[in-house]
Parts: sequence; C-alpha cells; structure tokens
Amino acid sequence: MLNIEHFESLSLDGTWRFQLLRSPKDQPGKRWSSIPVPGLWTMQPDSFDKPIYTNVQMPWDHVAPEVPDENPTGIYERDFEIPQSWDDKRIVLHLGGYESVALISVNGDEVGLTKDSRLAAEFDITSFIKHGKNVVRISVTKWSDATYIEDQDQWWHGGITRSVKLYATDYVYIEKFATTAGLKSDGTTGTLKVDAIIGSINGKSVEGYSLRTSIEELPKVKSAQLSGTYKSHKTPLWTEMSAELQEANRKHFAGEYWDGSMPESAKRLREPLQSPWPGHIVLETTIPKVSAWSAEKPSLYTLRIELVSPTGHVVEVSQQKIGFRSVIVKGRDLLVNGQRVFIYGVNRHDFNRHTGRVLTREDMRQDLLEMKRWNFNAVRTSHYPNDAAFLELCDELGFYVIDEANIESHAFYDSISNDPRYGSAFVERVGRMVQRDMHHPSVIFWSLGNESGIGKNHYAAAAFARSLDPSRPLHYEGAINGDWRGGHVLTDVICPMYPSIKAIVSHAKSGKQDRPLIMCEYSHAMGNSNGTLKEYWDAIHSLPGLQGGFIWEFWDHGIEQTLADGSKRSAYGGDFGETRHDGNFVCDGMVFPDRTPKPAMHEFKALAAPVAFSTTKAGSGSFTITNRQFFKDLTDFGCTWNITRDGQVIDSGTIKLPKIAPRKSAKIRITSKFLTKIDGPGERFVNFSVFNLHRTDWAPAGYEVAWSQFALTSRKLSLPSAKTSDLFEVAVNDAGELQLPFGVIAPQPTLWRAPTDNDRIAHFADTWEQYGVRDLERIDCMITESAKSYKVTSLWQTSTGFKIKQVQVVTPIANGYSVKETISTPKQFSDLARVGINFEIDGSLSQFTYLGIGPNETYPDRKIGRVGKWSSSVFEQYIPYVRPQENGGHAGVRWFTLTDTSGHGIRIDLDKPRQVSVNPFRATELADATHDVELRPTGNTVVTIDAAHRGLGTASCGPDTLAQYLVSGGTYSFTWSVRAI
Ligand code: GAL
Ligand code: MG
Repeated sequence: MLNIEHFESLSLDGTWRFQLLRSPKDQPGKRWSSIPVPGLWTMQPDSFDKPIYTNVQMPWDHVAPEVPDENPTGIYERDFEIPQSWDDKRIVLHLGGYESVALISVNGDEVGLTKDSRLAAEFDITSFIKHGKNVVRISVTKWSDATYIEDQDQWWHGGITRSVKLYATDYVYIEKFATTAGLKSDGTTGTLKVDAIIGSINGKSVEGYSLRTSIEELPKVKSAQLSGTYKSHKTPLWTEMSAELQEANRKHFAGEYWDGSMPESAKRLREPLQSPWPGHIVLETTIPKVSAWSAEKPSLYTLRIELVSPTGHVVEVSQQKIGFRSVIVKGRDLLVNGQRVFIYGVNRHDFNRHTGRVLTREDMRQDLLEMKRWNFNAVRTSHYPNDAAFLELCDELGFYVIDEANIESHAFYDSISNDPRYGSAFVERVGRMVQRDMHHPSVIFWSLGNESGIGKNHYAAAAFARSLDPSRPLHYEGAINGDWRGGHVLTDVICPMYPSIKAIVSHAKSGKQDRPLIMCEYSHAMGNSNGTLKEYWDAIHSLPGLQGGFIWEFWDHGIEQTLADGSKRSAYGGDFGETRHDGNFVCDGMVFPDRTPKPAMHEFKALAAPVAFSTTKAGSGSFTITNRQFFKDLTDFGCTWNITRDGQVIDSGTIKLPKIAPRKSAKIRITSKFLTKIDGPGERFVNFSVFNLHRTDWAPAGYEVAWSQFALTSRKLSLPSAKTSDLFEVAVNDAGELQLPFGVIAPQPTLWRAPTDNDRIAHFADTWEQYGVRDLERIDCMITESAKSYKVTSLWQTSTGFKIKQVQVVTPIANGYSVKETISTPKQFSDLARVGINFEIDGSLSQFTYLGIGPNETYPDRKIGRVGKWSSSVFEQYIPYVRPQENGGHAGVRWFTLTDTSGHGIRIDLDKPRQVSVNPFRATELADATHDVELRPTGNTVVTIDAAHRGLGTASCGPDTLAQYLVSGGTYSFTWSVRAI
C-alpha cells in the first residue's frame, strides 16, 4: 500500500452496472441496473437490502467466523479504456473502501480479494489489461469473517464507500514513501527522515535509481541533503570472506563488542553481510528555522519528490505535505512541541444522511470547519481510519488526531482478540494504517481500535506499530479498562470512556498516575444531554495529569427516509424494518443529521474558548485577560465590551488587546460611569466579546470565539407589588382554576418532563412512571377568600395514587395578580424531573421574549450563557431532537412575555431566576412521539415555570448528573406574577 500521491491517474467513479444477489454463491444474471460508485446499495431506494443498526450485538446469531447464508452481494461492473500513454506502464487499481469483502476481476480474470473495509486496497493489474475496452468487476459481499472485527456502533451497510481509480507508474516506481518530520526542543529546528522503497516489476533492476526530494518553501535546504541513490551490494560467499571481514565477524560473534563498541571500520566491513532490502533508501536531515506545526498554527511544507533513473530520467514525480512537530508522552503529560496542550476533542464517524457513509472531500471539510467554529481542536477517527483526504484536511486546518485502526469485536469482546485466526488481521489493520498515515503531522496517537478487550492479537499489533513508527505514542482504551495503572504495552495514555468526574479527579490527585489522562469518550451527546460538561472542564483545566477528552460524538446518524406520504424523517434503528436493533442510540451527536449544531455546542464552545477573562471586582473596571492558547499571541483577535441593564446596552467600547504571549495573562481596564452608578432598577452586566479580526477558512471576520460576562452591583429584583384591580375579580373561577389572560389551560403543578434519552435509557423515567407523575388529577380543592387574597388549596393525585398538595395564594397587582405557590410532594419521591407549574395560553401569542440566560437552550447542569433580553418565536423555541423529548428550556429566567405580533399579551415575573420553557408542544406529545416529524402543534403555547429542574447528565451512556442537580421530593415554594400587557 502506498502513501504517496500518483499524478498519472484515472478516476473510475461514476455510474456502474449493478446487480444485487442474495448470496455470493448466486450467479449474476443478464439484467443490470445501475448504481453510483462510490455508492452503498443499502442506500438505494429500491434495494431489498436495507441499513441495519445495532450497537454491540451482531445482527444475527452466528459465531466467528461463520456468517449467514443469506449474504447480500453486490456485483459492480464497468468498462474502461487505458490512455495510450499508459502503454508500457505498470497499472494499479485502487479501491478506497467497501463493506466488507471485495473480490476484484478484470476482463473475467480474478485479480484478488480484500478485507479491510476502511483502508484502500491496491492491485497491480498490468498483466490483466488489454488494448481498447476493459471490464472491471468488483463483487462486494456484505458479511464475512471480517465483520466480527468491524462491529462498531453504527449502521451496517453494504457496498463501495470510497473512490475507485487507476493509476500508472513506470515499471520502476516508488513503492513506499514514509516521512517522519520532527521538531527539536529549541522549537525551530526541524528533523526529517524519509524511508522509501523503490519497487519494480517485470524483472527491472532498481540499481542506481535515485530519490530526489526538496522542500518547496525552503529552497535553501540543499536537495543534496535530501537525495539518495540505491546501490545494491552483494553478500559475499561465506567461504570467500576477506581476512579482515572474517576477523571483524569473529570478534562480533565472540561478544567482544558486547558494550556496543564496535569500531566504525569494522561496521563498514560487515555491512555486506546484512542482506540488503532491495530498493531501500533512507534520507535524514536537520533543517534550521522551520515554523512548527500545531493545531493552532498548522504550518505545512511541500515536499517535492522525484524518482530518477540511472540515466538521469525523471520517471515519477509526486509531492507530500509535511509538518514539523514533536509529540511525546513525558510522565503524566502529553507534550506537543513541548507544551502540555489541552485536547478539546470529538469522536467522528463517517456519516452522511443521504449517502450513508459515502463522503466527498467537501463533506469531510465541512465537518471539520464546523468543529473549528465551536473551538474543537482534536478528532478521534472513531473507530477506523478515515479517507486519506480527511487527514490531509486535519493537517491543513489544524486538528490533533487519534488515528484508530478498523478493529472492534464488541460482541465477542475478549475472545476474538485472543483468537489466532484473527491475529494477522489485527496486525495488518494497525500496520497498514500506520504506513499509510505516517506522514501526517495531525496524527498524534495510533489507536489499536475500540472495544475488543485485551488479547494476544493486540500485543502483536502494538509491537508492529511501535516498530514501524517509534515517533508516536499508542492509544487503546481496552488496555486500561478496569485498571488505569495497567496496560502499558498497549497504551501510552490513560484513555477511559465515560469516567465520572470524581474518578478522574481522584486519579489525578492519587499520586499514582503514571501517564496522561485523556478520555477517549465522555459526555454522551444523545438527545438533550451533555450535562456537567463544565465540571469536567473545571477539573481538566485545574488538575495536572488531566488533559482533555473526546466528546461522544459528532453526528446524530439519522438517515433521511422518505415515508409513504412523501414526508421525510430521520430514521434510526428499527426504521428499515430490522427487528434486532438498538433504536435511536445511533443518534448521539453534537450535530443533528443535517449538521446543524445542537444547543450543547454553545456550552462546549465557551469551555474551550481561546481567551478567558476574570476579575476580583467587576465594578472596578479592572480585568485580567488570559491567552489560553499554547502557540499564538492574541494578534488575530479583536475585543469589544459593553454594559447592559436588563439586556439593553447602556455603554460600550473597544479594547485593543495587549500582545499576550501564549498561556500568559495581562490586565485590561475599561472606564464607564455605569460600572458603579446604580441609576434605577435593573440588573447590569459587563460583557466582553472576542472575535476573529480576519476571515479564516471556517468563519468570517468578526466571528466570536470567546465571551465573558460579569455581574455588576445592581438593584435587587422585585416582583410587582400588590394593588387591587379589576382583573382580581376573575383571577380564580369556582373550580379553583386561575384565570390567565389569553389562558386556555389553567396553571397546574408539574413534576414530570418528556423523558430525555438519558432519562429514558437510564430508567429515571421508569421511576417517574411508578410515581405516576405524568398525569395529575385534582381530587380536592378549597378556596378561601380574604380581603387581600384568595387562597386555593388543591389536592392532586398521581396516576398511581400518590398525593400532591398545592397551595396558591393569589394577590392582585396592576393588570394582573401574583401567585405564591407551595407544592408538597411525598418524601419517597427521591428523583423527580422537576417541580413547577405549567399552563397553556392561546397560540396567537406566538412571540417570546425573556430576560435570562440565553439565547440558547440551557438546563441547570448545562447553563453557560449570557444574561440578556432574548426574543424568538414560540416555534423557534422547539429543538428538534431526532426522538422528541424535553427541550427548549432556559435557565435563570427573571421575566418573560408572550405576545402577539402587535405586542399584546402577558408578562410573567419571577421571584428569582428560574428554569422556564415555552413550547408549541405538550410534554406528553413529545414523550409519545418517536420521531420529530410526528409532532403536530396543538395551537396553544405550553408554558412551564420550575421551582426546581433536574440536570440532564449523560446517563444514556455514562454518568448521571451530579447530586446538586437532582430534584427530590419535599415542599417547594416560589412566587410568580402575571400581567396583561
Ligand atoms: C462507546 C463506544 C462507541 C459508542 C458509545 C455509545 O462504548 O466506543 O462506539 O457505542 O459507547 O454511544
Ligand atoms: Mg462498541
């Protein structure tokens, strides 16, 4: 396998003839349909074989290496012609990716077979080619012995996933070209090693062929330093060794140089005895004054490569991007260019909602640009090598990459990794990945795969990877699973999945940590999730030994599916008729299936911001600004500030950012009379916004990368005070229901939310079902009237018979009333979704404005946002999680209005900042729907105000929220007021 670009190539992508058979034993018939290449048959609308989603379990009951008899097999076929200029050339067929085994034939002759779905396979087809029309057939069979080590948690598909092409070289050609570019500790001296093999066919000699390389951007580096010629040497016959050689050899075997003291002259003498590797050329040099590569500053250089024949003829040219950087693990630090960088990472699968996982370079680029916009700096290619183009893009845009081998035997966790029948597959999969990707500066770890236990096959693969590339550390989660102090042979990093904050903190403080801890997966992004992300990062940013992690994961893999009525939905497990499946567990990403970001992205972006602000006293106008980057100063950024009062800007200015060196801080000062002057009621905040001064590949000039908000001393919030008014007369009807302006359903207590994926999968929702809190029925009500207020005492009963007491003291205010609510729940309710009230008002009040944390969806354990006055339509409050669930909440709401388009409606004030949501859908409707498209607006606006709301946590796969974000039973009191406006 080559990791060098061949310029003389011919793409075979396009429309191919196609037939889908039920088994590889079936013979293709005469009728062909057509299919795009690359293209999965499982994504063709008329295919009998559809996508299947399972997580751990295999989609059938066999054991390795057996597979079902019914085994869909796609026959892909096309004609092609070879350019005349390729006469007398070596011709290679390159197949980028296929699932899971491919058999190649050319002109009816079998050429070969390949079984590593995510690394290209190449076949020398020179001797199979004819003049004129040729036919290539690629028969892809879906299930094979290899399927057992491709049991990653994603859709099962069948077909060709990556490009197919031909390329041509001379009969003598560059067979292997591995570069290792390093950086010395001075930070500016680059090192470069080229390890190449010149190959040949048809008996051609490679003797005297030279490799000539040069670095385009560094013309002063003499090409002589980067060139070499292959000269073979013959091993002398044993009986014909010279006396000197015999002597040197004798001493060597006698152990006289046991301390490594063999003189150079003796070494040279013995050289002919080591049998040479035909065509092997090694070039090594040191280059002063290079600009180092890092994810922040991805400086790349272009290595030009020429293969020159003994007569001086250039027979092949190519080029490769290289970057000078160092990666080492030292004690419990991972150092990139000597710096203990933080890994703000995300796991990424190949996914496209229309094509399954057939991706264009542009698709991959858009994924990476999206990550950049949200301050991610690292990707784990979970759980297989990506297309080579992906790594080129990571080199260019700046990402640290864990490059993972295509090995996961999850359903047979420990057994297959110990099964010698799979030994060579493990070694090959890791080894071929290392060889292909060695030259990418972005790759900082080789990963042995995922969730395959620990086995002998891993030891073999690890040894191979370490010897192929001693320059990079290894990563493998299985090695430390259950014991973070073990597994040193297989992993140089402690890379747990879904550890609790408590565990990583106690590990870092234990004094027993011996390697860096970087979580390979954490913060499971399924549905409305990613609670306590901030607490993870508070720990990582403050504790030596913790260096970051990779969120699980980037994508919600909802495949776009057209239903019988023409509507489209995001399909997940079970939606293609498969009976064994893992439902919507395949939708657990930070972006929706169309790549629009979920609200949790805002939380992450703030935590990973390149700039931070702090102060001991905001009113003094003095702030500390910290450059959190490792390799750049702040010259790329601009900064503005403002002071807001209840969301209105009352003063603002610009700051010229000082030139702060990486990881350093400086003081800045703003001046404004509003820093200290409390002129009237209203909460005041100082806000900073840091933005890109210049356009980048991923964002326009002006794009905000960091912000910060500080509260100023303000006059305390107060609710509108009591007054008699006309409305008071109708505030409570005879049934004890509060009458709201524009009200449709009167306020009632609520202890439930539409279960999030976390709530449902971790069974919290089952507990709520036992409590019966989804449906509350009022079984008693007493109204007592006094001169100043009504008191409504209600008894509610849950569907399983628990009693909830609610007391509402209603007092008039101008144009409305205020309500002191007291809700008492049974003490045995140890875990509730919320304690609050909800009501519905007329849907004509379609505009929502609030003063609170915003503008994005927030929850108690995921609530980074700016206090401001935010507006949107009610419909925009709905967040379309693939499987509907609790959504659209806002933490820290002080007041809100719901109005029609002319501004009439209601205003609700709260006694203190609280969790509020308005939504076009009822919680019960959200809970009962399985797909977003099933929801039909009721026409009302559903409002919920909470005295307490449970955190989100990440328990669909990982820890629940922290204790402080749980809601238990007991008595809750809060006050709200409503006014017509
Ligand atoms: C991990 C696994 C991932 C995925 C995730 C849950 O255990 O490595 O592939 O299954 O859990 O979404
Ligand atoms: Mg798995």
